[in-house]
Amino acid sequence: MITFDAVTKLYQGSVAVDGLSLVAPTGKLTVLVGPSGCGKTTSLRMVNRLIAPTSGSILLDGEPTERMDVARLRRRIGYVIQHAGLFPHRTVVQNIATTARLNKVPKAEALRRAHDLLERVGLSAAFADRYPWQLSGGQQQRVGVARALASDPNFMLMDEPFSAVDPVVRGQLQEEFLRLQREIGKTIILVTHDIDEALKLGDQVAVLRTGGRLAQVASPRDLLARPADAFVADFIGRDRGYRFLSFAGIDGTLALRAEPAVPLGTAPEEARRVALDRWLLVTDAARRPLGWADVETLRAPLRDGDLNLSGTFAPEGGTLRHVLDAALSAPSGRGVVVTPAGELAGTVTLPAIAAAIEAERQGRIGPRP
Ligand SMILES: Nc1ncnc2c1ncn2[C@@H]1O[C@H](COP(=O)(O)OP(=O)(O)OP(=O)(O)O)[C@@H](O)[C@H]1O
Ligand SMILES: [Mg+2]
Repeated sequence: MITFDAVTKLYQGSVAVDGLSLVAPTGKLTVLVGPSGCGKTTSLRMVNRLIAPTSGSILLDGEPTERMDVARLRRRIGYVIQHAGLFPHRTVVQNIATTARLNKVPKAEALRRAHDLLERVGLSAAFADRYPWQLSGGQQQRVGVARALASDPNFMLMDEPFSAVDPVVRGQLQEEFLRLQREIGKTIILVTHDIDEALKLGDQVAVLRTGGRLAQVASPRDLLARPADAFVADFIGRDRGYRFLSFAGIDGTLALRAEPAVPLGTAPEEARRVALDRWLLVTDAARRPLGWADVETLRAPLRDGDLNLSGTFAPEGGTLRHVLDAALSAPSGRGVVVTPAGELAGTVTLPAIAAAIEAERQGRIGPRP
């Protein structure tokens, strides 16, 4: 647990952080989000005492940090910054091993752990002996995360860790990081100015406004449902109605329909015989969906080139957002749901999804126990 207790930071009389009180619970990911200059980085750097508060105090598991030995304090806290901040003259494994070495772990052991961590953050052993300039931005970020984890700290501070890369890589890094966090369960404060990232990653989201004042702290779902004021409502953006779909699971609420499917090579007559309508789902030998075929225009046995690939596939146990996207993107209007092994589980229709969305909406606005 990291506690901010009425923390204020003044710079030559101007307020960077104004009376911040906030608890980042143990094992959870707390996101600090807000517009540029609202005091996010300053708040983060006061935790590991790179910046000293003007007043107030910060506690780690209830113990005030101002009394701790600063070197020891920093070794308990992993720190990841925007452009990874790797040592340019050290290789990838040497970079990762640095924090363990500071903690007096023997060299061989530190390097062994560094190799393990490399794998955990999704980089192959081939990267171990490269230098930072030989890596892409996304790969450098992964190394930065591995380095922060190397001393196995209970606490992690992350300042815009995924912002220096393109949106596709950012999405991958976020997914990988969420998966990793589910395993390691660190107490994390992550800073971003991207509300989508905040809502996706945070167990809890703290919205700061300019002048370093806390506007609201809540779970992503509650933030969307009950923004505290016009500033928060404006900051979380226009498509808040749509964003709820990411938090609504589909288990039990949506009945899957059996969907006929055929393999490649199926003759046109056979395809037209089994199809529910004009669109027929095509799967591989392991019943993994490949795409949809238009049986009306089919003149020869089904080939790869006949497939319409526009539809996305929703994972079983996914969210309403996944199935809605699958249905909207499929030429048939039926959303394909797949098992974890990628096999066809069934489809859901748009009217069924619309009914589930309405049930979710009513549950959300209805009385709470
Ligand atoms: N060393 C400093 N001296 C004077 N003012 C500073 C100093 N560091 C930061 N500030 C000011 O404090 C405020 C908060 O800065 P901070 O870096 O914490 O913002 P931020 O929320 O991280 O912004 P960004 O999203 O742009 O990174 C800003 O107005 C900034 O200009
Ligand atoms: Mg900043």
